[in-house]
Amino acid sequence: MRVLGIETSCDETGVALFDTERGLVADALYSQIAMHAEYGGVVPELASRDHTRRLLPLIQQVLDDAGLARTGLDAIAYTAGPGLVGALMVGASTAHGMARALEIPVLGVHHMEGHLLAPMLEDEPPDFPFVALLVSGGHTQLVEVRGLGQYRLLGESVDDAAGEAFDKAAKMLGLDYPGGPHVAKLAEAGDPGRFRFPRPMTDRPGLDFSFSGLKTHTLTAIRQLEQASGLDDQARADVARAFEEAVVDTLVIKCRRALDATGLKRLVVAGGVSANVRLRERLERECAKRDARAYYPRGRFCTDNGAMIAYVGAQRLLAGEHDETGIMQAVPRWPMETLEAPVTA
Ligand code: KG4
Ligand code: ZN
Repeated sequence: MRVLGIETSCDETGVALFDTERGLVADALYSQIAMHAEYGGVVPELASRDHTRRLLPLIQQVLDDAGLARTGLDAIAYTAGPGLVGALMVGASTAHGMARALEIPVLGVHHMEGHLLAPMLEDEPPDFPFVALLVSGGHTQLVEVRGLGQYRLLGESVDDAAGEAFDKAAKMLGLDYPGGPHVAKLAEAGDPGRFRFPRPMTDRPGLDFSFSGLKTHTLTAIRQLEQASGLDDQARADVARAFEEAVVDTLVIKCRRALDATGLKRLVVAGGVSANVRLRERLERECAKRDARAYYPRGRFCTDNGAMIAYVGAQRLLAGEHDETGIMQAVPRWPMETLEAPVTA
C-alpha cells in the first residue's frame, strides 16, 4: 500500500511517500522558520498561507522523486491535530480533496503519535513495548507504549514544554527562533561549573515536569548579570550551559524513573528536543548503565516531517481505519491518550 503523508500542523510543510512493502520511498520538507524568525515565533495566519503556497508543489516533488503518478497512490494520511487550526485545515482539506478525486481512503493522524513512532523508520526500530519521552515545542510527555494506539501517559509537563522553555530562554539571550539549536550551540562555549540552575520537580516522586520556574530563574540570572558585571558573551554562554544542563538533567532523571517504574529496557526519544546532542549523550550513558537501549529518529525526523505521518497513517490504514464520515478533521487540542489501537491490532 502506497500512502502519501501530509504534515502542516505548525511551521513546517512536510510530505512523504511510505510504501508498506518498500518502506519510506521519498520525502520533502519546506520549513517556514526564516519567515517566522522575524517575529520571534510562529504567526498562525502566515503559517496557514504559506502551507497553502507550498503544499501542492511539495506533493508533486515527492511523487516525481518516487516516480509515481497521483493515480498510483493507495491512500492519504494527514496530520489532523494537535496544532494550529488554520494550518491543520490546509493539510486536511488538501488530503480530502485529493482522496475524493482519486477515490482512495484518507485518514487524519495524531501529530504526537507521528513523533512517537518516527524511530520506526530507522534501520533498527524498537520492538514494543517501550517507554517514550516526547519532547517538542508543545509537549513534554512520558508514555508507556505497548503497541500501536496503546499509550499510557506516565507523566507530562504541568506548564511549559521543554522545547518552549528552550525557545523562551533563547529569546532572553537574544537568540533567534526556534531557540533550541541556538541555545545548544551557545552552551558549547559555556562553563558548566559557573551556575547551577534548579532541576524542577525532581526532589519529589512522580513523572510530571515543570519548566516555567526554570524560565523565571534564567531571567533572574540574566538580570543580575546585567546589573553586576554585564552580560558579555562568556556570561551568555554560561547561562545557556546552565539552562541546558538543568533541562537535560531533569529529563534524564524522569526517564530513569519511568524505566524503573515500568521495568522496560527500551527508551524512545522523539520530538524536536530529541535532536539535542547533550540529551542524547546523557540518555545513552543512563541506558548503558541499566542494560537498556535508547532509540531516536534520524536528525531530520526529530522535528516535524511528513514521513512520520505517512508511517502512522499506513499502519492504521492497513488495519482498515479511515475518516469514516468523509469529513476532514482539524483538532487543535487532542490528548494522545484518547487514541485507540486499531480494531485488528
Ligand atoms: O517537534 P517540533 O519540530 O515541533 C513541535 O511539534 O513542537 O519541535 C520543535 C521544538 C522547538 O521548541 C525547538 O526549539 C526544539 O524543538 N529543538 C531543540 C533542538 N532542536 C529543536 N531543543 C533543544 N536542542 C535542540 N538541538
Ligand atoms: Zn512536532
